[in-house]
Amino acid sequence: MKGIVLAGGKGTRLHPLTLSVSKQLLPIYDKPMIYYPLATLIAAGIHEILIISTPEDLPLFQRLLGDGAAWGCSFSYAEQQTPKGLAEAFIIGETFIKNENVALILGDNLFHGSKQLKQFATNDHFVGGQIFAYRVKDPQRYGVVEFDENQKVIGLEEKPEQPKSSFAVPGLYLYDGTVVEKAKQLKPSKRGELEITEINQHYLNAGTLTVHPLELGATWLDTGTIESLIEASQYVQAIQSRQGVLVGSPEIAAYQSGAISKKELQQLAFQQKESEYGKAINAFVAR
Ligand code: DAU
Repeated sequence: MKGIVLAGGKGTRLHPLTLSVSKQLLPIYDKPMIYYPLATLIAAGIHEILIISTPEDLPLFQRLLGDGAAWGCSFSYAEQQTPKGLAEAFIIGETFIKNENVALILGDNLFHGSKQLKQFATNDHFVGGQIFAYRVKDPQRYGVVEFDENQKVIGLEEKPEQPKSSFAVPGLYLYDGTVVEKAKQLKPSKRGELEITEINQHYLNAGTLTVHPLELGATWLDTGTIESLIEASQYVQAIQSRQGVLVGSPEIAAYQSGAISKKELQQLAFQQKESEYGKAINAFVAR
């Protein structure tokens, strides 16, 4: 399976923080935000990854992440000229996807403690679309799943004023290669975007959408508002200082998924030995 990280947008909800810096480069505790979704893909064994951002910000991501080889991965880059919606990622990524299965993750979403992505990404019999559901107290901020009395999914709505459940759809979507054609057929919504919720609706109508509730104990945080941004940092800080293990480290994910050797991980730690982050990788190697 291939992976796409969508890391563009205007970041207007975080102004003035994001007036001159891409939102996905802001720190979540000790590392740039984009490290978290990248680590999620890499940990699931997805090592061929396309990073999409604005024409202004893309060079900054390239400077930060390079070609991915140091992490045993292959990174490529593509511009999104204007933020026309999440589903445009599949049109921009058409030649990268080449009809294969693809995982899209939003550059501002943080997942922790879920084993499901790996399980689904490595399933050879994958067809259709697979998304997740996570209970939140403010579902109106998200795509929301509607269930019938037998817990069967019967509908999906984007940012409904009156949500039909408390289950939001996190920004991690797994699709078969037909997603590109589905994205091309979309028309801009009332807010002028190609909506990912409409892609999911297509799969639902075709009877090929699976919605997995994220397992108990798994955490999903988004960082779209200033409160959620600081909460994400506090979460990472609390877990790391309690357990002494890094959350969202692409280097460790690369090692654990077999993309790099222990020696290579050691070298990556050495290159960053002055920082707490580098020391934490070194401590992981030494365990
Ligand atoms: O976080 C999960 C939610 O993400 C889902 O529940 C919603 O169904 C989905 O529409 C999306 O909602 P958001 O309101 O969070 O989307 P937002 O416009 O904030 O974009 C999410 C990320 O994607 C953000 O980091 C910016 C980036 N983005 C967004 C758009 C619209 C792009 O790179 N390009 C775009 O065109």
